[in-house]
Amino acid sequence: SEIYRDGVAGRRPRIPVGYAQLERAAQRRLSRAAFAYIAGSAGLERTADANADAFRRRRIVPRVLRDVSARDLSVELFGVRRPTPLLLAPIGVLELARRGGDAAAARAAAALGVPAVLSTQASQPMEEVAAAMDDAAPGASRWFQLYWSSSRDLVASLVERAERSGCEAIVVTLDTHVLGWRPRDLALGYLPFSRGLGIAQYTSDPVFRQLVRERAAVAVRPRTTPTPAALAAFAGILRHHPGPLREKLRSGEPLAAVETFLDVFADPSLTWDDLAFLRERTRLPIVLKGVLHPDDARRALDAGVDAVQVSNHGGRQIDGEIAALDALPGVVAAIDGRAPVLFDSGIRGGADAVIALALGARAVAIGRPYAYALAVAGEAGVRELLRNTIAELDITLGLAGVRSVAELDAGILAPAASPV
Ligand code: FNR
Repeated sequence: SEIYRDGVAGRRPRIPVGYAQLERAAQRRLSRAAFAYIAGSAGLERTADANADAFRRRRIVPRVLRDVSARDLSVELFGVRRPTPLLLAPIGVLELARRGGDAAAARAAAALGVPAVLSTQASQPMEEVAAAMDDAAPGASRWFQLYWSSSRDLVASLVERAERSGCEAIVVTLDTHVLGWRPRDLALGYLPFSRGLGIAQYTSDPVFRQLVRERAAVAVRPRTTPTPAALAAFAGILRHHPGPLREKLRSGEPLAAVETFLDVFADPSLTWDDLAFLRERTRLPIVLKGVLHPDDARRALDAGVDAVQVSNHGGRQIDGEIAALDALPGVVAAIDGRAPVLFDSGIRGGADAVIALALGARAVAIGRPYAYALAVAGEAGVRELLRNTIAELDITLGLAGVRSVAELDAGILAPAASPV
């Protein structure tokens, strides 16, 4: 009602309300390469399209005369009741959207009680973002997303820092041990890597800095060989963009930091057995992000993790991968209520959130929409995006005849319009 009152009072929105318009507004603000990095997906972008299609195929069948005058959007996650079932998905290199973007987005989330998941690939160290969140709302909920490095010491150090920064959970992203084949980025020279952006979490880490020093002393070969095609592409990009890197060198950031990052950012040799290493090092809940197969969901429970997140990274990793929403029911059935199932990839508004929650997600993470809102209007833009999403969720719930998010189930959905 606040949003409608603002409209009646003639207050203009800070960001376009519709997703397509928001994306276009962001595109106008961003350089071609920055927009390509955020908007782009893998290959022919069939999976990114499939994520949207999967939502289009689902239909809500509302129930009437059910007294929905008081509605409850709250959910319980890891022993804490949260005001809404929303999360901010981890998005790396947010400085491409706006300088100081990590802190700005996290502050907006903090103001609305939405946990912010801080990326390993962030443009600002987690300590800085945590302080900004505390400034906006003391103790605001933050989680840390981990890209599992080929250096175990670095993994341990990042997790320790996350604990010290007040993070409430560790989200291990499992679909990016090799970077996806992204034509839009490849055509424009992979901006983040050519500029050495998005490595603040690393350059602020004592273990990483030691790795850089060692690398400078002896030409250390990568311990694991991340997929040749991807790293060859990066090496080529580094060679072809000497300008920005020379600037980095002049500004005191050694090229060795970028090269060391490329060596250690992922560990494609990871297996289920490695999770024990993390389990031994933290008592925080562990979420596995990027689980799509029901067997993997069961395996995750056996491995002692606390939640899984159904996600295909917004279609940025495998072209032709199953739509995340189509994978959700299978994972929910496999988990069978034994742990929360989180969801992302394709959430564009509150009605999408209702559909994913009805299919069994406990909470849903918003990705690209907030990166665009950040590009268009900074912290206030992200706050407005979240407010709009919460409002649409609340309205959709009420109109569907459902009093609370906790009550939502697949009973409000028509059978899927076509098989997957
Ligand atoms: C991402 N995503 C991501 N995930 C992650 O675990 N760590 C990261 O650093 C990033 N970085 C990142 C950058 C950009 C520009 C995008 C668009 C996405 C994936 C993200 O968490 C989430 O899975 C997707 O954004 C969901 O897809 P949609 O809904 O944004 O299309």
